[in-house]
Amino acid sequence: MTKITKAVFPVAGLGTRFLPATKAIPKEMLPIIDKPLIEYAVEEAVNAGIKEIIFITSHTKRAIEDHFDQNFELEEKLRSGGKNDFLKKINRDIFRDIKFTYVRQKTQNGLGDAILHSEHLIKNEAFAIILADDLIINNPSCISQLISSYDEHQCSVIGVNEVPKNETEKYGVISIDESTSTKSSFFLNDIVEKPKNNPPSNLAVVGRYVLSDKIFKYLKNLKPSVGGEVQLTDAIKLMLNDEKVVGHLYEGKKFDCGSRHGYVNAIKHLAKELFDD
Ligand code: UTP
Repeated sequence: MTKITKAVFPVAGLGTRFLPATKAIPKEMLPIIDKPLIEYAVEEAVNAGIKEIIFITSHTKRAIEDHFDQNFELEEKLRSGGKNDFLKKINRDIFRDIKFTYVRQKTQNGLGDAILHSEHLIKNEAFAIILADDLIINNPSCISQLISSYDEHQCSVIGVNEVPKNETEKYGVISIDESTSTKSSFFLNDIVEKPKNNPPSNLAVVGRYVLSDKIFKYLKNLKPSVGGEVQLTDAIKLMLNDEKVVGHLYEGKKFDCGSRHGYVNAIKHLAKELFDD
């Protein structure tokens, strides 16, 4: 079994859809009840065997760095007050041996550019990418499912789900080779970012990937495209000329917490598990 030990978390986006909340607070720090969005995503990675978390961050996102650091004063207060349950919540056992690395993306040139900022930390290995705005609930987690698919196919894997045709213009959409695909693994013919018309399928890319480090070669030569941004989708499209890429139809419930609607639905969903009324 191939070990995927590094996960890149691009968190440098501006989060404009959540203004004014995200003027001074990173979108990723918005809480789903009492836990910030980013912690759900890091938890997902760590439970899938990831040992190193690489944040691509910006000067407005310092709170993320603080969140995964120790807060000695608070810990001491909680310890002396006998509040051990809270102590465990801010100093989680599962994060103890995890390495957190932060790289600044100075200009928000797009997701593809953000990923390119991790190149020097990924050495001849496949790695995971997690977009924390997509909160995906399932056990095994979405990223675990993608890692299993990577093991099976030995090629890059991207998470996909089915969306209504009239919503495909919001996502990266894949075109598949029907003859070689199975019920949940689709071999890509092509991939298009936010198709305005004639989407090649209703299979949309979600914020989970396991990519070969060869992706950097393609990212390096990209020009900005859709939205004036350097798109990861364009690099995957170029990679398809040289190697196979699988779209994995994961199992799980996805909430797009980068949008107000998805964010509220995620809270409602988790609240049902916690409270009776
Ligand atoms: P989004 O498209 O959701 O953009 O980025 P955004 O800026 O976060 O949010 P809106 O659209 O302005 O509301 C997808 C992912 O890529 C990261 C974001 O942090 C998010 O995880 N990203 C995007 C970067 O890290 N850098 C960029 O330059 C752009």
